[in-house]
Amino acid sequence: MPAIDPALVPEDLFPVIDALCATGAQLSGVIARGPLGQSLGAGVGENSDGDQQKALDVMADELFEAALKPAGVRHYASEEQEVVLTLDPEGAYALAIDPLDGSSNIDVNVTIGTIFSIFQAAEDATASFLRPASEQIAAGYIAYGPQTLLAVTFGAGTLLYVLDPETGRFSLASEAMSLPEAAREYSINASNRRHWTAPVLAYVEECEGGTQGSKGKDMNFRWVGSLVAETHRILTRGGTFLYPSDARKGYEKGRLRMVYEVAPMAFLVEQAGGQATDGKTPILSLQAGALHERCPLVFGSSEEVARIAALHD
Ligand code: AHG
Ligand code: MN
Ligand code: MN
Ligand code: MN
Repeated sequence: MPAIDPALVPEDLFPVIDALCATGAQLSGVIARGPLGQSLGAGVGENSDGDQQKALDVMADELFEAALKPAGVRHYASEEQEVVLTLDPEGAYALAIDPLDGSSNIDVNVTIGTIFSIFQAAEDATASFLRPASEQIAAGYIAYGPQTLLAVTFGAGTLLYVLDPETGRFSLASEAMSLPEAAREYSINASNRRHWTAPVLAYVEECEGGTQGSKGKDMNFRWVGSLVAETHRILTRGGTFLYPSDARKGYEKGRLRMVYEVAPMAFLVEQAGGQATDGKTPILSLQAGALHERCPLVFGSSEEVARIAALHD
């Protein structure tokens, strides 16, 4: 029994998507049991980006790696691994993954997720991922929240599936997620305000201006701390998200990693009618220079993303 309704999944990618969904369903069960099972939020090490690794980060990475090996994945690049792994030398695909996004929310019962990005495999393992984000052939996330969801694009719209916990199967909920053009909410880690650049501060001040300010409307503020949860909210009801570069040491390119966070979210958002930039330049025209390289990310409703780009001129 497949783990996802196969109707709209391209046939050649089906084994990969099915393996991601089967593992996502398994993780969903582990996450739902929380403290009744093994300790998920305990610190167990540090990854190459300097993040603390939680037990669930490592468990998720191991489960996806094992499930993707027989699914036609040749090159596997993970946030939790230093280098690209070769899973199946005959495989056709290069898959990048953030096995567990939102690690700081594991122990507090807030939505966490998995993010993935798929390219055709090139000969060279690392070079398979250091290409323009527009060359992705599929991207998606699984959100582990009140519902477990899959949002995925194969380059023809953004599809939404919901996991039925009774069958362990993801079923289609929407063939075309559509991000509203105008926003009423914005998201940025406001605790970093003192480090922001002038254009980012100017944008947030516009959002705070309310009906008397240049926007002429009230904007609500939200920050979950899980990129997957933030992206799902914005894909569903509009808004903007910023993780910009700021003045902190190590944050010259923000916080999020190009290959397994920024590029896939940009592909999903653009396929749903939104926009994604690094503040100014479309993410889909950019490429990472190194596997774990960071990239500033601004995405959401097109009017707002355009306004933020104008403030960067
Ligand atoms: P990860 O848990 O995969 O390392 O990613 C965490 C990311 C992302 O989910 C979130 O948007 C951001 O880090 C939160 O950053 P702050 O530490 O500034 O809150
Ligand atoms: Mn991390
Ligand atoms: Mn992440
Ligand atoms: Mn992660």
